[in-house]
Amino acid sequence: MTLPDQRFRVLSGDITAITADAIVNAANSGLAGGGGVDGAIHRAAGPGLLEACRTLRATTLPDGLPTGAAVATGAGNLPARYVFHTVGPVWRGGKHDEADLLARCVRSCFRLIDEHPEVTTIHFPAIATGVYGFPKELAFPILDREIRAALADRAAVHAAIVLFSRADAERYHALCR
Ligand code: AR6
Repeated sequence: MTLPDQRFRVLSGDITAITADAIVNAANSGLAGGGGVDGAIHRAAGPGLLEACRTLRATTLPDGLPTGAAVATGAGNLPARYVFHTVGPVWRGGKHDEADLLARCVRSCFRLIDEHPEVTTIHFPAIATGVYGFPKELAFPILDREIRAALADRAAVHAAIVLFSRADAERYHALCR
């Protein structure tokens, strides 16, 4: 059996260009598309992704996706089977459960894997660390801890965190290794 560490990679680059069974999107609660990684994922997936999000809003998620939750759609033209949309916390100084909500994003995505056992590779962006303003120094160790813990419980799953820049990847290694 492989150790969780052997099933976890830190990559840098554009998450939409790297093949995985599931790509995690740092979405907004309205699942409306936006900037950052969300914009990149929608552009690469094609218009079917927004349509799938609108269908979710019209059916199971009339009030939107709560912060910390996750939901799966198809992945359109992305090199993936699924997009797992999750909503990170907006950073409001750290006293509004932001750390716990970020941890919940990761856990919610792994629960989606439990519902889709054909998913054995999952790639995460650095959820909430862009527009939502979560400090990377605090977010990276939370993401690292949560992904490793989830992998320890799921021997068949491989995960990566994909940092957009090499500088972010270096910062991640300095903080988490
Ligand atoms: N590949 C990998 N990482 C990326 C990419 C990419 N193509 N593009 C950006 N990042 P953000 P958030 C990194 O702002 O903070 C959107 O408008 C980026 O450097 O995408 O959760 C949504 O619609 C940063 O480290 O997501 C929401 O309204 C990380 O991805 C809101 O932004 C997350 O930055 C969500 O904000």
